[in-house]
Amino acid sequence: MQDDQTLKAIRYQRGSLSILDQLKLPDQSIYIPINSVDDAWKAIHTMSIRGAPAIAVCGVLSLAVELYHSQSKFDTIASVQQFVTDQLNYLITSRPTAVNMTEGAQTIIDYLIPLSNKQQDLSQYINELIVFMEQFLERDLADNHAIGQYGAKAISENNTSHKKLNILTHCNTGSLATVGFGTALGVIRQLQANDNLELAYFTETRPYNQGSRLTAYELVHDRIPHTMICDSMAGLLMRTQPIHAVVVGADRVTANGDTANKIGTYQLAILAKHHKIPFYIAAPTTSIDLNKKTGDEIVIEQRPSKEMTSIKGVNIAAEGVQVWNPSFDITPANLITGIITEHGVFKPDELEEKLLSLRKK
Ligand code: MRU
Repeated sequence: MQDDQTLKAIRYQRGSLSILDQLKLPDQSIYIPINSVDDAWKAIHTMSIRGAPAIAVCGVLSLAVELYHSQSKFDTIASVQQFVTDQLNYLITSRPTAVNMTEGAQTIIDYLIPLSNKQQDLSQYINELIVFMEQFLERDLADNHAIGQYGAKAISENNTSHKKLNILTHCNTGSLATVGFGTALGVIRQLQANDNLELAYFTETRPYNQGSRLTAYELVHDRIPHTMICDSMAGLLMRTQPIHAVVVGADRVTANGDTANKIGTYQLAILAKHHKIPFYIAAPTTSIDLNKKTGDEIVIEQRPSKEMTSIKGVNIAAEGVQVWNPSFDITPANLITGIITEHGVFKPDELEEKLLSLRKK
C-alpha cells in the first residue's frame, strides 16, 4: 500500500530498523539506525521520532530487531517472555502522555502465553513473536486509510453546500507521525484525493514547530494546497475565512471522550465552538484508553525549556528566563463533534460503549 513516493518515518525489514530523524527535518533527510530497544527509547525521548502511532511502532519493531539478533542468548521460552516483558515495560517510560506504546506493549504481553500454548519450539516461538510484532506496521497503515475514508466522508456530508472545503489542523499527524498516510492529515489527504479540498490550513505549532517543520514538509512534498498560520492567528482565521472543520490527532482519548493532544489543541476547540465549526479528533482505537475515565487522569509531559527558548540551537528568549512547557493539553469531550476511528465516527458520549462492543467481537 505504501509506494516509494510516500514519506516514511520508519523503514523496516526483518532484523533492520531505521527512522527518519525528525529533529533534522526539514533541512536534512537522514535515516538513523535503531538496533536495540535502548536506541528506540532514546529516539522517542528526544523526539527524533514522535507522533503517538509512530512511537508505538518504532518501539515494538526495535524489540523485534533486538530479539532477532539475540536469539542465541535464550534457552527457554520463559526467558524470552521475561525479556520481552521487561523491554516493553522500559519502552513505555520513554514518553508518558500517548497511550499507543502502552497499548502495543499490552497487546504483545497478552500474546506471550497463548503463543507458548501453541508453539513450544524455542526458535519457532521467537519467529512467531517477531511476525506478530511486524503486523503493527500493516495495521497502522490500514487503520489510517480507514480513518481517512470515514473522516473525509463525514466532513463532506456535513458540508453538502460546499464542494471544496477549508480544513484547519494542528501539529503533525501525517506520514511522519504514523507508518504512513496519517490520521488527521490522512483525512486531509483523502479530501484532496476526493477533490473536496480547497485549502489545508495548519498551525506552525509552537513551541516545537511540528507544523512548520513537519506538516509543511509533508504538504509541500505531496503538493496539497495549504496555508500555514501562527498558532495565535487561529481566532482571526475562523472569524474571517470559511473554515469547514478542524481536524486534529490524539495522544490519548479517555472513556468519556476527553482528548490529550499537542498543546494548543484545547484553545482551537474553544475557538471552533465559538465560531460553530465542527471539531474532530482523528485517531486509531489504539489511542483510546478506557482505563482512564476522564482527561484529569492523563499525565501531561513537561518538555525541556530549551525546546521553547531556542530554535535550532539559537536562543530566541532572554537568557535566564523561566518558562512552563507542557507538551500536551486536554480538550474536554463537550467541545468535540466526533472521534474519527478506523471503525467509523463516534460521538464522545458513545465512544466507550462502541469500543467495548468492538473489542468483544
Ligand atoms: O509531541 P509530539 O510531536 O509527539 O505530539 C504529537 C501529537 O500531539 C499528535 O497530534 C498525536 O501524537 C497524533 S499523531 C498521529
